[in-house]
Amino acid sequence: MSRKKIVAGNWKMNKSFQEADTLVEMILNQVNDFDEIIKIIIPPFPYLQTINTQLTKKDNFFLGAQNCHTHSNGAFTGEISANMLSSVGCKYVLIGHSERRQYFKENNTDFILKIKEVLKNNLSPILCIGETIHERKADNHFKVITEQLVNVLTAFSADEIHRFIIAYEPVWAIGTGETATTEQAQEMHAFIRGVVSGIFDATTADNISILYGGSCNAQNAQELFKCPDVDGGLIGGASLKADDFCKIIFSF
Ligand code: 13P
Repeated sequence: MSRKKIVAGNWKMNKSFQEADTLVEMILNQVNDFDEIIKIIIPPFPYLQTINTQLTKKDNFFLGAQNCHTHSNGAFTGEISANMLSSVGCKYVLIGHSERRQYFKENNTDFILKIKEVLKNNLSPILCIGETIHERKADNHFKVITEQLVNVLTAFSADEIHRFIIAYEPVWAIGTGETATTEQAQEMHAFIRGVVSGIFDATTADNISILYGGSCNAQNAQELFKCPDVDGGLIGGASLKADDFCKIIFSF
């Protein structure tokens, strides 16, 4: 098993440039170089290049982006391509975040096209999946997760899947303060690994990092990260505070 432990901070649409600069400095000051956990900072687009300069001062810190377009370039006013992200030092791109699904009506066709661009530019996709509270209450969560995975992953080869990270983010836990229990998280993460194994093979499934996201914080990260199939976290609100984000990094 070669899967990595990862903590990623998705800042969403938060922080001024000055605040972002200070936050990154405070995080870097608290984490030592020998820490082997992969740390990914995912700030708003305008700060990417500057933050990358800061991150390259420390080992195992990487830059991620919150989105990319389905095309490499062209007349798409206001959009940003994976090719551009790569050129400013990004290594990861979030794809399929529930906020993109909900507010921007992105669908599996978009995700497949975006991931193709991501892979073409030597970046890694962090594919976000998760069920709504309505779907969980109706006992449809395993079906929904299976569909979200199968519809996207089958467009790629096992070789390509090796570059993926999956983030399980139950929509009902995002920004609500309500976290999945360790039992719910472990159950779903093991299920996701089973789906990946079914599409590809057991080794591919064993090697893919599956992150938990949804009100993961400095208090609950340790319990969640103890689950055998939880390989780290995709952190929203708690990634905006240096102390909290570092405590999460130290939770393994
Ligand atoms: P919160 O940690 O704020 O719930 O957000 C999770 C998330 O959406 C990360 O992508």
